[in-house]
Amino acid sequence: MSEQPMESQSQHEPTHGPAPEAGGTPAEALHVDRFEGAWIRISVVILAVFLLAVLASGFAMGVQVPGVYQRIDPRTLYDPGSPFANPGLRELAPGKYELYLRAQIWQFAPNEIHIPAGSEVTFYVTSQDVQHGFKIMETNVNMMVLPGQISTLKTRFDTPGTYEFVCHEYCGQLHHTMFGRIIVEAPTQESTAQAR
Ligand code: CUA
Repeated sequence: MSEQPMESQSQHEPTHGPAPEAGGTPAEALHVDRFEGAWIRISVVILAVFLLAVLASGFAMGVQVPGVYQRIDPRTLYDPGSPFANPGLRELAPGKYELYLRAQIWQFAPNEIHIPAGSEVTFYVTSQDVQHGFKIMETNVNMMVLPGQISTLKTRFDTPGTYEFVCHEYCGQLHHTMFGRIIVEAPTQESTAQAR
C-alpha cells in the first residue's frame, strides 16, 4: 500500500488529492498489492501443476498406493492351506500371475523369482515377525511389509532383465542382507507368437 493517499487525506482536502492516484472506481476497492497478486497466481499455478502430476502419475503412469489386501494373524502363516506357507509365483491366466512373498528376519521367501517378460504380477507380501519393507528397483513397487497385514500391489514386467529387490525398513542387525531378485526372462519365439 502506498502512503501517499493517507497523507493527502490527512493534510489536504480530498479534491486536492494527487490526480493520477485518484479514481475511486469500484476496482480500486479490491486493490491487491502487486507482489501479493503475483504470489496468489504462483500458488494457483503450483496447485494446478500438483493436480496434473497426481493425475498423470495415477492414470498415465500407473503409480499406485499400496493397498491393504487383508489382515492376517502372523502365527497362521505356516498353516496348511496358507499361501504364505509355500510362497512363490502362481499363474492365474496366460501372462497373469500372483506372487506370494514372506518377509522375515532377515530374508525374503522366495528370494529369487523368474517371471516371463510381458507378465502382469500382483504381489501379496506379509511379514512373519517385524516391520520390513519391499522395494523393487526400476519399478513403482515400493511398500511397507507389516506383521498382521498383507500388502498388495500390481505391476507389469515388460523389459527382460534382473530387478533387485530390497528391504528398505530397518529391521535389525542384518537388515542390509535382506534382498533378492526378480529375473524377467525374454519370451521365447513361441510364446510371442501366441501372445500376438
Ligand atoms: Cu527387513 Cu530391513
